[in-house]
Amino acid sequence: MTDPQATVDEETARHWDELYGGRDRLWSGRANAHLVDVAGALPPGSALDLGCGEGGDAIWLAGRGWRVTAVDISQTALDRAAAEAAAAGMASRIDVQRHDLSRTFPAGEFDLVSAQFLQSPLEFPRAAVLRAAARAVAPGGRLLVVEHGEVPPWARAAHPDRRFPTPEETLAELDLDPDGWRTERLDAPRRQITGPDGQPATLVDHLLLVRRR
Ligand SMILES: C[S@@+](CC[C@H](N)C(=O)[O-])C[C@H]1O[C@@H](n2cnc3c(N)ncnc32)[C@H](O)[C@@H]1O
Repeated sequence: MTDPQATVDEETARHWDELYGGRDRLWSGRANAHLVDVAGALPPGSALDLGCGEGGDAIWLAGRGWRVTAVDISQTALDRAAAEAAAAGMASRIDVQRHDLSRTFPAGEFDLVSAQFLQSPLEFPRAAVLRAAARAVAPGGRLLVVEHGEVPPWARAAHPDRRFPTPEETLAELDLDPDGWRTERLDAPRRQITGPDGQPATLVDHLLLVRRR
């Protein structure tokens, strides 16, 4: 079997480790709002969190009774996720695994596969990873993909032409068998955020939720 540790792209890992290492905490520690919306209505089961970062989603899911496999390329992020999980008393419910998802993918089938902002400024085979994510969904389970739908106002000048795939484009890229899957959500919900200088803003996200029959 391929050893995930041995097949990590070092440049990608360094990029994310430096990003996480530059701050005591990069993300809020809270679960992502759209995940809370969707998973809050589901009975707990097994979940796979792709690009889990510092573990906010995984710990929230574990707290609601899910068994979570939490995956990221950044060892710095994973160490934080493991420490936070232990501090929250959730370590036994969260299996933290290091994978470069462009090269290896965690084994198993899951009732919920979640990709929250699994977006990268580096080369990343997004469509192939999302297709692997769909293959990891157990019968009756769901794939939830939430991504940025627009650049925040304070970053627009630096990225004037940045465009994100629509949920419809993501669904098309997944190339799912229509007899085997039902689309439950395909929309662009809004989310309140606070900018780097404390300025409030509303941002559009792109959300796709599909269920395997
Ligand atoms: C924008 S962050 C989102 C983190 C978290 N899901 C959240 O919503 O706060 C993207 C995450 O994907 C991870 N990532 C980027 N490229 C990856 C890859 N090739 N394999 C695994 N994880 C990767 C990064 O380390 C980072 O934690």
